[in-house]
Amino acid sequence: MSSIPKAVESRGRFLERIEGGAAETTVDERLVALTAPMSAAAEQYRMLLHRLRHLRALRGEAIQGGAVIAVTSAVRGEGVSLTAANLALTAARARDARVALVDCDLRRGGLATLFNMGGRAGLADVLTGKTEVGEALGRYHEGHLAVISAGRASGAESASLLAGVRFSQTLSLLRSLFDEIYLDVPPALATADAQVVAYKADGIVMVARAGTTPREQVAQAVRSLQGAPVWGLVLNGVDPARVPAPMPVVKGQLTSGK
Ligand SMILES: Nc1ncnc2c1ncn2[C@@H]1O[C@H](COP(=O)(O)OP(=O)(O)OP(=O)(O)O)[C@@H](O)[C@H]1O
Ligand SMILES: [Mg+2]
Repeated sequence: MSSIPKAVESRGRFLERIEGGAAETTVDERLVALTAPMSAAAEQYRMLLHRLRHLRALRGEAIQGGAVIAVTSAVRGEGVSLTAANLALTAARARDARVALVDCDLRRGGLATLFNMGGRAGLADVLTGKTEVGEALGRYHEGHLAVISAGRASGAESASLLAGVRFSQTLSLLRSLFDEIYLDVPPALATADAQVVAYKADGIVMVARAGTTPREQVAQAVRSLQGAPVWGLVLNGVDPARVPAPMPVVKGQLTSGK
């Protein structure tokens, strides 16, 4: 994944229509799948999406209902939330699948801020029985993407909530309602949460910060998931000069480059 340009990194907001109706909200500009769909970074999210869909197709009948894909990392700050959010938005923009994005980082989830979700109840509230899944779902991109924020739980209760029966039931419900469910999961080396969630996912995407995360740390994170199905690694924050530019754009359409 190439580095998101500085201008886009400015934590600016971008107008987004929700619920498919008149209501509008603003989302973070770093959600480039939406805010800069012709950028090199957005193109790479499309490549990532199609590779994951190919892997899913290879698994075929082994996945019942919607596929659950967990995005995690070795340590904090590697770009998990931005990757999961942009991946889910890319899938929603394709308009050929019902897509959900769930923030499983109950200690310090970032999706509520990225999607400007305000005080809506989140996953922690569902897992403690305070609210229903339907109440926690925020609809984006004309209804093609459903987002559940993290809500809030203490570090001590986070792993046990994710290990509990309510989380399994929530995933079963989401599998019945959506084709693709992306989970934003805390880092594998820093928390027990990643292992707990990994066992319930069909595939795991590991995010590593280019030039920062030592190779051995990534390997250790994969080992810590003890055989859970790691589908691939996203190298995040690569210098854009080292990434091939996308095709030239003419009137908003991708051309063949001729
Ligand atoms: N490809 C990228 N280009 C530029 N900046 C990035 C990129 N990916 C992430 N960042 C920046 O790195 C920081 C961490 O990103 P993000 O919140 O997605 O990581 P995270 O792994 O979810 O972190 P945490 O473990 O704290 O939840 C943010 O400030 C984000 O803007
Ligand atoms: Mg995060």
